[in-house]
Amino acid sequence: MKEALENLRRKADDEMHSAKTGEEFLGIKTRYLGRKGLLTDLLRGLKDVTPEEKPILGKLSNDIKKSLLEKIEKALADIEIGAKHKFLGEEKIDVTLPGRGVQYGKLHPVTRVEGEICDIFANLGFSVVEGPDVELTYYNFEALNIPEDHPARDIHDTFYVTDNVVLRTHTSPVQVRTMEEYSPPVRILSPGKVYRPDSDISHTPMFHQVEGLLVDENITFGDLKGTLSFFLRQMFGSDTKVRFRPSFFPFTEPSAEVDIQCVMCKGAGCRVCGHSGWIEILGSGMVDPEVFKTVHYDTERISGFAFGLGVERIAMLKYGISDIRLFFENDRRFLEQF
Ligand code: PHE
Repeated sequence: MKEALENLRRKADDEMHSAKTGEEFLGIKTRYLGRKGLLTDLLRGLKDVTPEEKPILGKLSNDIKKSLLEKIEKALADIEIGAKHKFLGEEKIDVTLPGRGVQYGKLHPVTRVEGEICDIFANLGFSVVEGPDVELTYYNFEALNIPEDHPARDIHDTFYVTDNVVLRTHTSPVQVRTMEEYSPPVRILSPGKVYRPDSDISHTPMFHQVEGLLVDENITFGDLKGTLSFFLRQMFGSDTKVRFRPSFFPFTEPSAEVDIQCVMCKGAGCRVCGHSGWIEILGSGMVDPEVFKTVHYDTERISGFAFGLGVERIAMLKYGISDIRLFFENDRRFLEQF
């Protein structure tokens, strides 16, 4: 019997040597150690051996069984680890593959220029306030000294919502709203959308303006000139030439239109400046006492200046864009250049 046991051990060892897959090892396990397995079979013969041999053979067969089980389990574990490594090896990331590229969002050129304008004035102590796009005619016109029969009230120049509600035609109503709420000194900037029924190469029915208002004691036209010249040189470069021309706005007196020397031809005259060498860039003036009266400011004690500028116009000059409509077509080939 001892010999039979040793033979069985050798045969099992041989089989395990040539086994490779998990199924083969599991097969060996059943074939030798299963309920009808070879070793199990042999052990049934133990009851017929002599009492002296019994403990020796019992121990031997136990050892064989134990080592067989250990070897099979180790082989199965090795196979599993091997499979894992193979899987991980194949899943390896190829870091040399070209990436897919991250697409970054960008600010719209109008938003960007609006931000630059606000930054320059923020450095001068102006704070940003906003007003509604849908505005009462009172704030858009009456409170700004634009009477009922003024040409700007003509139906053709204004989008009316109802008889006394419009899409604001400029950002100046925010001046009035601000002064109604705060007493002087006031130093505000108000960016936002404005609406006029116009559409061509230099007009869109909606565009952006930035309104400025500064009110305090002893504010003069010199302050207006100094502030706006400083702003324009910050925006277009320190060598920018600035010109103030007399003009008219119902809510400022005196009023001035402000030009810069043409950024394209440097004053020589070209298509962009209509061969004048100058480009109109903003409207401005000393706040009309009539406007102060409607907000109950003391016209004897305080004075102030206001200005309004078109954001698209500044962006067009800064980036050399010839058609304002490009800003609103949402063509990514255009927008991605900024
Ligand atoms: N609101 C004027 C416009 O839209 C611009 C302006 C603002 C002029 C403030 C003077 C003072 O044309």
